[in-house]
Amino acid sequence: MKNLVSFFVVLFRLPFILETDNPPSSQSFNLKSSLLINHLNTRLKPRYYSISSSPEAQKDQVSITVSVVRGEAFSGRGEYQGVTSNFLMELKPGDDIVVFFRTQRSFKLPEDSAVPIVMVGPGTGIAPFRGFLQARQAKQKEGEHLGDAHLYFGSRHEQYDYLYNDEIEAYEEEGVVTMHTAFSRMENKPKTYVQDVMKEQEEELIEMIEDKGAHIYICGEGGSMAPQVEETLKKCFINRRQSTEKEAQEWLDGLQEEGRFVKDVW
Ligand SMILES: Cc1cc2nc3c(=O)[nH]c(=O)nc-3n(C[C@H](O)[C@H](O)[C@H](O)COP(=O)(O)OP(=O)(O)OC[C@H]3O[C@@H](n4cnc5c(N)ncnc54)[C@H](O)[C@@H]3O)c2cc1C
Ligand SMILES: NC(=O)c1ccc[n+]([C@@H]2O[C@H](COP(=O)([O-])OP(=O)(O)OC[C@H]3O[C@@H](n4cnc5c(N)ncnc54)[C@H](OP(=O)(O)O)[C@@H]3O)[C@@H](O)[C@H]2O)c1
Repeated sequence: MKNLVSFFVVLFRLPFILETDNPPSSQSFNLKSSLLINHLNTRLKPRYYSISSSPEAQKDQVSITVSVVRGEAFSGRGEYQGVTSNFLMELKPGDDIVVFFRTQRSFKLPEDSAVPIVMVGPGTGIAPFRGFLQARQAKQKEGEHLGDAHLYFGSRHEQYDYLYNDEIEAYEEEGVVTMHTAFSRMENKPKTYVQDVMKEQEEELIEMIEDKGAHIYICGEGGSMAPQVEETLKKCFINRRQSTEKEAQEWLDGLQEEGRFVKDVW
């Protein structure tokens, strides 16, 4: 697993669900890949989860960051519970689950740690970036020079769902990352999304990508968040470089071709 820079865990539901009172976070469990063969015929489609740890920091354990899908059913009839996220929430430490790994080779840190990076991951989109930060911290400890890393994270409220807050604060103090936060449902404050914060910082952002060769990553919800973040990047480019919409699109396409603009969205 050491050479895998970014990969996914794919979960199949086992033919039983265990009852538990344990909270969903901070659990560990055993992965039995041998069970996979017995369950390939399952009709339930696999669910993908980005790995939120780095093999450079945690060699024998992977973590995932799951948002539990649960709420009033769209039909208005009772509560809807997502199959796999609720299954995961009910696992106990030591339970066996069935997984396979899929590598996404392009979603990786630059080879040279001195190259700056810009990460955009609201909500559970933060998952792979936590792994990135763990890897950067490990490199820093080995004496490597780290380029700037900026993480744009968003959640509903500063006090809830600010995932890995404590860890990230520590990374900030160590110079592993600079955080930019957007909270969308704070009392008496305007609704703010990650792209709003990016727009406020367009000068630095475009300079970092254009003049300093930064790599840019987007992870998370793909229906609205990712396209809006892309639009914002283009708008920032248009403003700073007085370019046309077509030129801004070509700029973004060029970054993508070079592997400097990568997305992991769902
Ligand atoms: C490449 C990739 C990486 C991913 N990484 C992550 C990750 O790191 N973390 C993470 O949390 N997720 C991630 N996902 C999403 C994840 O795979 C699952 O889709 C998610 O956990 C929901 O699965 P589920 O089985 O719990 O819900 P499902 O049983 O699949 O239910 C979800 C479906 O129900 C619908 N639905 C939702 N709410 C309601 C409602 N109230 N009433 C009626 N219908 C409703 C939704 O529109 C959706 O179609 C990733 C997906 C991909 C493709
Ligand atoms: N029931 C709950 O309390 C609760 C809490 C969190 C998540 N969830 C559910 O969990 C799932 C995903 O959770 P998640 O943690 O990955 O993400 P999330 O909490 O749903 O979203 C993370 C942040 O992204 C914001 N956002 C929404 N649309 C955006 C857009 N177009 N551009 C930029 N930012 C946008 C959200 O704001 P807004 O949501 O304010 O628009 C929120 O601030 C969803 O199904 C969600 O409904 C439920």
